[in-house]
Amino acid sequence: PVLSALELGGVKIARDDVVRDDPTNNVPDSIFSKLGMQLHKRNQHPIGILKNAIYEYFDANYSNKFDKFDDLCPLVSVKQNFDDVLVPADHISRSYNDTYYVDSQTVLRCHTSAHQAELLRDGHTHFLVTGDVYRRDSIDSTHYPVFHQMEGFRVFSPEEWEASGLDGTSYAAGDLKKCLEGLARHLFGAVEMRWIDAYFPFTNPSFELEIYFQEKWMEVLGCGVTEQEILRNNGQLDSVAWAFGLGLERLAMVLFDIPDIRLFWSNDERFTSQVQLIDNFTNKKGMTSHCYRIAYRSMECSLTDEEINELQRKVREQVETKLNVELR
Ligand code: PHE
Repeated sequence: PVLSALELGGVKIARDDVVRDDPTNNVPDSIFSKLGMQLHKRNQHPIGILKNAIYEYFDANYSNKFDKFDDLCPLVSVKQNFDDVLVPADHISRSYNDTYYVDSQTVLRCHTSAHQAELLRDGHTHFLVTGDVYRRDSIDSTHYPVFHQMEGFRVFSPEEWEASGLDGTSYAAGDLKKCLEGLARHLFGAVEMRWIDAYFPFTNPSFELEIYFQEKWMEVLGCGVTEQEILRNNGQLDSVAWAFGLGLERLAMVLFDIPDIRLFWSNDERFTSQVQLIDNFTNKKGMTSHCYRIAYRSMECSLTDEEINELQRKVREQVETKLNVELR
């Protein structure tokens, strides 16, 4: 059953506001039903776990300087989604074939970059925006028409690069790559990755980071040095900035070894909450025992006892060394 209304960031949205029998509307019920699911706000869900792990990296390395937004409404104007980030009028991403239009002036955001301009205008200079994004796309193991992105944005004032002897753009590009390589190490430890030159209308130079996964290079983020015009249009006159947009599903697939992007939408608790605390007991001496239930599952085959025992052995070993607890 499809809901008739939902609440997003405090705003009530009726189905008929989003799905309409109108030639300028191409939002099907199957997409409307994803609005408001907010997988990135579920702390036990792989997307929520990953969001929190990225927050941890930024909090630790930038002493909590990054403002965090994860509740911005995914219904945005064409101006926010495209014009504000300098997407040309004839760019194919604007087409009805690629983007979900609610009406001729309103879309389901196709990237979290749709929020850059408003946050700059509100005076934010360091921010992370997490949210669901929507693209009309055919479905396979790494593509789904709804996924999650995290946008990062950092503004530098002239003093910050002048001392380095570099121009602002080179300084920001170097800082950006260092930041994202550090993030990749924080999340993955050692992982094979490579930088590719890229094009985005809103950054120059632009790059993509690819990670080697399942015998292929997979694009996990786009980034670059923000076009001056965007900064100038939104109240940042002499600054330079970098921006990135991470695809959270793809990073989570690598991090948690999840073989198919469709699994993120599973309601099966064995997926959405693989580890469950089922008992919590403190004895007279004040020692606390936890009992956890863990679901071990493979997409390919049923696991044998030997395979599960081996997984269990590794989990116990990691828990003991990383959490400094006594195993029972
Ligand atoms: N918005 C781009 C995308 O969705 C990613 C990106 C964000 C690129 C910020 C550069 C800077 O593909």
